[in-house]
Amino acid sequence: MTVETGSGGAAKTIDRRRIAGLTEAEQANFRERTRASAERFERALKVMPGGVPSSFQQNDPWPTYIERGDGARVWDVDGNEYADFHNGFGVMCIGHANPKVGAAVKARVDLGTHFAAPTDGSIVVAEELQRRFGLPQWRFTNSGTESTMDAVHLARGATGRDVILKIEGSYHGHHDAVMVSVYPELEELGERDDPRSVPYGAGYPRALTDLTRAVPFNDADVLESVLNKLDGQVAGLIMEPAMMNINIIPPVPGYLARVRELTAKHGVKLIFDEVKTGATISYGGATKRFGVTPDMITLAKAVCGGYPGGAIGMTGEMAEIVASGKVHQYGTFNGNPLVMAAAEAALTEVLTEDVYRKLEDTNEQLKSACQDIIDRYGLPAYTEGMGAKGCVIFSSEPLREYRDYLTKVDGELSTLAWLYHMNHGIFMTPGVEEEWTLSVAHSGEDVERYLAAFEAFATDVTSATATAPAAFGG
Ligand SMILES: Cc1ncc(COP(=O)(O)O)c(C=O)c1O
Repeated sequence: MTVETGSGGAAKTIDRRRIAGLTEAEQANFRERTRASAERFERALKVMPGGVPSSFQQNDPWPTYIERGDGARVWDVDGNEYADFHNGFGVMCIGHANPKVGAAVKARVDLGTHFAAPTDGSIVVAEELQRRFGLPQWRFTNSGTESTMDAVHLARGATGRDVILKIEGSYHGHHDAVMVSVYPELEELGERDDPRSVPYGAGYPRALTDLTRAVPFNDADVLESVLNKLDGQVAGLIMEPAMMNINIIPPVPGYLARVRELTAKHGVKLIFDEVKTGATISYGGATKRFGVTPDMITLAKAVCGGYPGGAIGMTGEMAEIVASGKVHQYGTFNGNPLVMAAAEAALTEVLTEDVYRKLEDTNEQLKSACQDIIDRYGLPAYTEGMGAKGCVIFSSEPLREYRDYLTKVDGELSTLAWLYHMNHGIFMTPGVEEEWTLSVAHSGEDVERYLAAFEAFATDVTSATATAPAAFGG
C-alpha cells in the first residue's frame, strides 16, 4: 500500500469550486454521450422501478445500458466502446464472451439444462473448490445472498444461538440477518466499541435486525470484549477477510488469526464471505492468501464464470448438520447443470493457478502507475488492491475500517474521477465505494487507456486554469 500524497508528501489543496465546475462539465458530457441510454431509461422506467433490474444498477442521471461485451471491452447502446474495469461487479474475471466457457455452456445446452437431480458437473466443481480453498464439503446456491443466508442458518443451527456478529460497513447480500449496519450514517453509528444495529432500509423486522450486532474491522480487542460480553449468545461472525465494499481495506497483520482464535474459543462459527475475494484475489481466495481457515466460506460472483450461482464451503462438522437435515439447505436450481458447466470451465480452464500471477502483475503495474500520477500531481489519494482487484482511494490517510471510510474519503473527487473514466472510455462501477476488477483479457493497452483517463482527471483537477475537458472519441 502506498500512502504518500504528492511528491515530498505534500498534497495539493483542492479547489472545491473548480471540482464543482469540472463535475458539471463532465456530467453534461456524459449526458451528451449517452443519449440512447437516456431513451432506454425513459422506456424502462415504465416497467421497472428505477428503470433497472436491481437497485445496485441505478445511477445518476441514468444507468449506462450495455449492448455487448468481448474480452476486456464492452459497448453501450450509444455505440461507445469502453475498456471494462467494472466487470459486472467483479464477476467477469474470465473476460466477456470467453470462448472456453462459451463452448462448455453450448455443449451443456444440447444435453439438457435442468433436472433438479445431481450431475457430474456439481461433483467436479465441488472437488475443485475443495482443492482451492481447503474446506472439505461444498453445497451450491444461486447467488451471494443465498450463500450468506444459508451460512447464517447453519451457524445458528450448529450452535443453537441467535446472535450474529458482522463487521460495521460491510455488505453481505440482502437478507434480514445481514441488512444491518451496511452503510450507516455518521450520526447513526453509536459508540465504536458498541455500535448500534442500524437496519439498511425498510422491510426488516426490528426483532430480527436486533439479533445482528456490528463490530469494527481490524480491531480484535473490540471483538474480544464483545464476545466476552455476549458469551454463549453468538452463533457466528460473518466477515469479508479483506473489505471490498468500501473501496478495499486489507486486514492488518495478525488480525484474521486472532479473529479465528477468539471465535474458536467462544464456540462462534467463523464465516468468511468470499463472494468478492473468492475467485479473484488468489487461486484459493482470501482463505489461502491470508492463511486462516474459517468454519464456512461463502462464494458467488466470479466462481461461476458469468452465470448466476454460488457455493458454501464447510467443515465436516457443519456438513453433518446439513446432511442430517438438522438445517435445511435447499434450492430448485442449486447445482444447475448449465451453471456448473460454466463454473467448471471458468475454474479449471480459465482461472488456473498461473493466471493469478498474471492478474497480480497487471494489477501491480496499474496500481503503481496510478500512484505515480497521484504523487506527480499531489492528489490526496493512495492505491490499494490485491489479485485482480484494485482502486484509487481518495483519502490522504489509509483506511482501516468503515468509520475511516465515512470520515476520510473525498466523495466529490471520487464521483468526478468516475465521470472522467466513463467519458474517456473506461467502464467503471458507479459510486464511491467500489473497485476495479481485472480479467484475463486485460492487456497493456487497457491499462494505458485507464491511466490516460486518470491522468486527464489529475491534470484538470490540479491545473490553474479552468477549461472544460475534451471527451474521448467513442
Ligand atoms: C461481499 C458480498 N457478499 C454477498 C454479496 C451478495 O451477492 P449477490 O449480489 O450475488 O446476492 C455481495 C454482492 O455484492 C458481496 O459483495
